[in-house]
Amino acid sequence: MLTRRLAEAEISEAVTIIRAGGVVAFPTETVYGLGGLATRSEAIRAIFAAKGRPSDNPLIVHVGGIEQLSQCVREVTPLARRLFERFAPGPLTVVMPKLGRICEEVTCGLDTVGVRIPNHRLALSLLRAIGEPIAAPSANRSGRPSGTDWRSVLEDLDGRIDAILCGESSSIGLESTVVDVSSGEPRVLRRGAITLEALQGMDPRFAMWEGKAMEMAMRSPGVRHPHYRPQAEVVLFEQAGELSESLRTLRRGDCGVLVSEVNREWEGFDFRGFGLVERCGTYEEYGHCLYGFFREADRRKLTHVYCQRVAKEGLGEAIADRLERARGKIGE
Ligand code: TXA
Ligand code: MG
Repeated sequence: MLTRRLAEAEISEAVTIIRAGGVVAFPTETVYGLGGLATRSEAIRAIFAAKGRPSDNPLIVHVGGIEQLSQCVREVTPLARRLFERFAPGPLTVVMPKLGRICEEVTCGLDTVGVRIPNHRLALSLLRAIGEPIAAPSANRSGRPSGTDWRSVLEDLDGRIDAILCGESSSIGLESTVVDVSSGEPRVLRRGAITLEALQGMDPRFAMWEGKAMEMAMRSPGVRHPHYRPQAEVVLFEQAGELSESLRTLRRGDCGVLVSEVNREWEGFDFRGFGLVERCGTYEEYGHCLYGFFREADRRKLTHVYCQRVAKEGLGEAIADRLERARGKIGE
C-alpha cells in the first residue's frame, strides 16, 4: 500500500479517505494518532493490523467538541461533563458507558469507551469536518515509543496506512491522562499532563487505580502490554556523579544521555563523545523530547540510553511512569 503524505493544506483529502473507511495518521498535542471511523469495523481492523496491536487493547475515540459526546456514550455524568468543561480540548481521556454504534472492535468488547477532544488545530479541523467519532490509538508499531513527529510515524507505518497528515511535532509528547468515571469511584488509569492533583481539584475522590494486576488488566487492558520501549537498554540515574560511575565500563559512543538540567548539578560535566545527548531545561521539554530521544537512539544503534530521573510532581509523575515502562518494569 502506498502511504500518501498530506500537507496541512490537503486536510480535505484526509477527510475523504477516513470517510471512505481508510486510516490516516494525524498530529495531536500529545502524540500522533492513527485514525479511522469508530463506527466502521473494517477501519478499526485496519488500525489493529497496521500497528500489530494485541486484539484486547481498546482504542480511544476522538471527537471535535463536547456536543459530539452524545455520538459515543450513553450518558455524560455530571462529573464527566465538568471534566470536559474544565480540561477539553486537552490531554484528558474520559472512560464512560459506550453507545452501541461505536463498534465492538474499538473497545474490545468492553461496555465502556474512552473519549478525548484533542487540543490541536489540525486535529480539531479534521474531526469537525468528518463530524463522526474517530478511533485513534497512538501512531506507532505496537510496543514501540509513540510517534511524536511525522517522520517517526512513517518509520513505523509507511506502507501500512493510507495516509499521514504531516504537521508539527506534538507539543506535549506524552499520551493523554486516562480516567475512568464510569463508577462511583473516579480513578486515573494512565498518568499524563493532567495531573492527579488537578483532577482532585475537580473531585476529591479521584485516586490512582491501585487494584491488583488482574483487575487492572480488565479495567484498562492496555497497561499490561509492554509499551514505550526503545531497542536500547534504558538505565535510570539520579545524579551526574552516578552517571560517570556507571559509564566506566561502556563506550560513550554507544550511549545516549537525556538529562534534566532543572537542578544545576551539570555545570562542568563533560558531554563530549556520547552517541547522543539531549539536555532539557524543564519537565515540559523533557516530556516533549523523550520519545524522539528513544527513537533517535535506536536509529544510531546505541546500546544504552541513560535517562535522568525526575521528581514525581506535576508533569514529573507522567514522565516517571513512562521511564519505568521504557525500562520494562511496568506494563508486562
Ligand atoms: O494521547 C493519547 O491518548 C493518544 C492520542 C492519539 O490521542 N492516544 C493513545 O492511544 O495514547 P493508545 O491506544 O495508545 O492508548 C489508549 C489507552 C490504552 O492504555 C487503553 O487500554 C486505554 O487507553 N483505554 C482505551 N479505552 C479504554 C476503556 N474503555 N477502558 C479502559 N481503558 C481504556
Ligand atoms: Mg499507544
